[in-house]
Amino acid sequence: MGEAFDKHFSARANKLKASDVRELLKLLQNPDMISFAGGLPNPQTFPTEMIREIANDILGAADAAKALQYGITEGYLPLREALADRMRKKGMDIDTDNVITVSGSQQVIDLMGKVFIDPNDPMIVSAPTYLTALTGFAVYDARFETVPIDHDNMRMDLFEEKLAELSKAGEHPKIVYVLPNFQNPAGVTMPEKNRRRLVDLAHEHDLIILEDDPYGELRYKGEDIRPIKSFDDEGRVVYMSTFSKILAPGFRVGWAVGHTDILRKLIIAKQSSDVCTNVLGQVISCEYVTRGHVDPQIAEIRKIYGRKLDLMLKGMSEFMPDSVRWLTPEGGMFLWTTLPEGASSVELLEKAVKKKVAFVSGKAFYPNPADGFSTLRLNFTYPSDEMITEGLRRLGSVLDEELT
Ligand SMILES: Cc1ncc(COP(=O)(O)O)c(C=O)c1O
Repeated sequence: MGEAFDKHFSARANKLKASDVRELLKLLQNPDMISFAGGLPNPQTFPTEMIREIANDILGAADAAKALQYGITEGYLPLREALADRMRKKGMDIDTDNVITVSGSQQVIDLMGKVFIDPNDPMIVSAPTYLTALTGFAVYDARFETVPIDHDNMRMDLFEEKLAELSKAGEHPKIVYVLPNFQNPAGVTMPEKNRRRLVDLAHEHDLIILEDDPYGELRYKGEDIRPIKSFDDEGRVVYMSTFSKILAPGFRVGWAVGHTDILRKLIIAKQSSDVCTNVLGQVISCEYVTRGHVDPQIAEIRKIYGRKLDLMLKGMSEFMPDSVRWLTPEGGMFLWTTLPEGASSVELLEKAVKKKVAFVSGKAFYPNPADGFSTLRLNFTYPSDEMITEGLRRLGSVLDEELT
């Protein structure tokens, strides 16, 4: 059929392009390939037995049908209550009304775009940032204004400069999108003082902050830092998180925390998007939290991923040429690596794939297609311990050949 339907597609659809990462995930099909490319949790962490037990209880109960019926768009009330309780413990001053569940936290990006972004509206993102936020907001024709990162995540001095520059040009961005904990892709974490500063600047410039936090629980070193939302007393922060990394992504259950006026709009947009979030998944997730399984499970995941991160750092030191640099994360799933000036991770990837090792070129995470060529993102949660070491050995040998 080829391009037979191009003239039928909307202008919006004709602009959509498949994400490089999704395309790359196809490489996982090759059993010999060692992939640092995806962002997948390790299936070894999925608590299958516990889920089976909870599901049995739910489906064996007299009111089992409730978990199989449509639910309300806001989400399953006992789960929203349990999540509100967890979020309050993280310092957020919120009620159950400030929490909705969503079909994976990715849906919040789509709904925020739908509700806030008109074509060519400027929004502020870090460079690099989460690829699927870029593609998600691009659907609504957002115009990305970028702020570089350093080891402290988004550079606050440059953020301030960007705001001044936009304001001088008479532009008023509505949203700044940030991933304060173990950012995807660079693994960097925003210190508390910068979180406070961000909230102050958002107040001064009347911005909404979208705080994306899928990885906050995955800390292997250092101390937890309070969410940006916990410093917000005006309701201008929308916080989003997910069960994908602390239970299993297949449930597609996430949540958003925000001002009720904003949530009301998101819910209306969600009604026409999916009617409601997977009800059985929500009821299981709720039992998982209320039966007290979530914190022991997080501790278990931290143990496994912490070990993998250590192995990764050891392998990097052992196999990477001296001119290659990386940022050491305290948690999350990714190691951000920089090649020497002039080297291209896109060309490197082609050669690496021939040696059966894959990663994502950092270029994918920059809105400007000219940026990020010398960077790459390595995922360390999915490969087995043996594959981490062998994969880095292979990557090191490709780099040795390339850089000499
Ligand atoms: C930064 C970030 N935000 C959001 C998501 C979406 O997660 P989910 O839709 O599974 O909750 C991901 C998934 O990997 C992510 O890395």
